[in-house]
Amino acid sequence: MEIVGMTEEYAANIVTWRYPPPYDCYDLVGTEPAFFTDPQNGYVALVDEGKLIGYRTFGADGRVPGGEYDECALDTGGGLRPELTGLGLGRQAIAIGLEYGAACFRPTAFRVTLASFNIRAQRVFRGLGFAPTATFNATTDGRGFVILSRQQP
Ligand SMILES: CC(C)(COP(=O)(O)OP(=O)(O)OC[C@H]1O[C@@H](n2cnc3c(N)ncnc32)[C@H](O)[C@@H]1OP(=O)(O)O)[C@@H](O)C(=O)NCCC(=O)NCCS
Repeated sequence: MEIVGMTEEYAANIVTWRYPPPYDCYDLVGTEPAFFTDPQNGYVALVDEGKLIGYRTFGADGRVPGGEYDECALDTGGGLRPELTGLGLGRQAIAIGLEYGAACFRPTAFRVTLASFNIRAQRVFRGLGFAPTATFNATTDGRGFVILSRQQP
């Protein structure tokens, strides 16, 4: 697995991904592919032998309205291709993303905002050294979220 730049082809593929419930809230169907290739939005591709298997994000895109955020940490997020979820690949995928993010941005800490129901994602991030720092309800739809962070050496 490695991180490479986001391309129009990868972006066109990501907007077709559909996750089974309850993870369908992560579907990006309907998003303009150009959103993912705009460097301001911080999307990069995760590939395995040239095949797109996921994406990672670095920056404000990972924030959820209603959370309290400062500039002391770099927000990260992302997703695996739907058919590759639930197989134990997430830990390596996220770890590779964090290595890339650490090398590119040298943050003092990483931060991730996860839906409270998404225990699967929380387990992976906790396993990578993230600890919860806050919970809140989104101002958009009231759903619960937890913010976790990890200090960088
Ligand atoms: C979040 C994500 C990276 C997790 O990676 P993954 O490879 O699918 O996760 P795993 O299969 O390794 O499961 C992680 C853990 O959660 C557990 N788990 C899975 N489903 C669970 C559930 N419904 N309830 C509780 N635990 C669950 C697994 O048993 C595993 O436990 P372990 O820590 O003892 O090994 C991946 O599913 C993904 O990218 N999903 C896209 C949608 C999404 O959830 N996005 C969240 C934003 S990061």
